[in-house]
Amino acid sequence: MMTDMQYRRCGKSGVLLPEISLGLWHNFGGGADPDVCRAMIGRALDLGICHFDLADNYGPPPGSAESCFGRLLKNDFAARRDEMFISTKAGHLMWPGPYGDWGSRKHLLAGLDQSLRRLQLDYVDVFYSHRPDPQTPLEETIGALVHAVHSGKALYVGLSKYPPALFNRACEMLKEEKVPCLLHQFRYNLLDRSCERAVLSEVEEQQTGAIVFSPLAQGMLTGKYLDGVPSVSRAADDSSVFLDAEKVAADRERVAALQQIAGQGGLSLTQLALRWLLRREEITSVLIGARTVEQLEQCAAASGQEPLPQDVLDAIDALA
Ligand SMILES: NC(=O)c1ccc[n+]([C@@H]2O[C@H](COP(=O)([O-])OP(=O)(O)OC[C@H]3O[C@@H](n4cnc5c(N)ncnc54)[C@H](OP(=O)(O)O)[C@@H]3O)[C@@H](O)[C@H]2O)c1
Repeated sequence: MMTDMQYRRCGKSGVLLPEISLGLWHNFGGGADPDVCRAMIGRALDLGICHFDLADNYGPPPGSAESCFGRLLKNDFAARRDEMFISTKAGHLMWPGPYGDWGSRKHLLAGLDQSLRRLQLDYVDVFYSHRPDPQTPLEETIGALVHAVHSGKALYVGLSKYPPALFNRACEMLKEEKVPCLLHQFRYNLLDRSCERAVLSEVEEQQTGAIVFSPLAQGMLTGKYLDGVPSVSRAADDSSVFLDAEKVAADRERVAALQQIAGQGGLSLTQLALRWLLRREEITSVLIGARTVEQLEQCAAASGQEPLPQDVLDAIDALA
């Protein structure tokens, strides 16, 4: 399959990211077939998808996605490290006791060291605070991110799921330290447009990049759940705590309406969902998950396409 991967600049930085990036939240954990994982990384690179997004807790079990990716990097892709832009994150639960999660300097820097060991890397390209911590002073979390860069363990830093006002403050602090925020990572898809209220305008205001996760609502926006839950799917997987048959059923009607709009425009629902996100200039990259090479290829094909026609955009807005 031919694709024409396009690249977008992360805010005011020197970094370009592909319009479609690959996340390893699911499908690279303990139960994954290493041959499929290797094939997906190789194909991603062939398709121009050079950004791979990880976090310490991706798996399951936590840590296993980094270990899998680290082994593949070392054994199969070491020569291509400089072609890749690799991120990781810390902030969600990783180990017992008071230092095992959230946003303290202790947790973030220990977490980054553990990630680097699993990834078998000296540095990552982006290190994120994975979620805001209501108990830790923002200065401490930001100080840890700055230290990660000064110590050479990360080239850039990012913020994930920060509400607008906090994101703003965090960006100002990072600017003062001359370690500007490269990327904000947050959820955006046809079923969840909440970031349109304020997050997107803050990203524009702060001139950072924006990378959006769960663009297919974890698979719901492919139409695969319209007739039930397929036995091989995220919703059927017990380890997937954020998607189950109940959630799928609750959104089925909206998904069916979107499927109809896609069909009228001569598109698959997957293409509609990804190209709709790429309509916005604030979005640097759309971060997909994939179980197979075929899924990856279908998603990659959303880059480099004509903008969606206005009647399709209007029909989507009429549903919102
Ligand atoms: N910062 C954060 O807190 C945060 C939170 C969530 C995610 N993320 C990042 O965002 C990435 C993407 O999130 P996501 O995995 O939820 O994204 P997604 O793209 O919305 O969902 C991925 C799932 O959609 C299905 N899929 C993908 N392409 C398909 C196709 N062409 N046809 C049919 N089904 C297809 C697959 O489901 P099946 O497995 O059912 O086949 C796949 O596992 C994660 O890997 C992670 O890097 C970050």
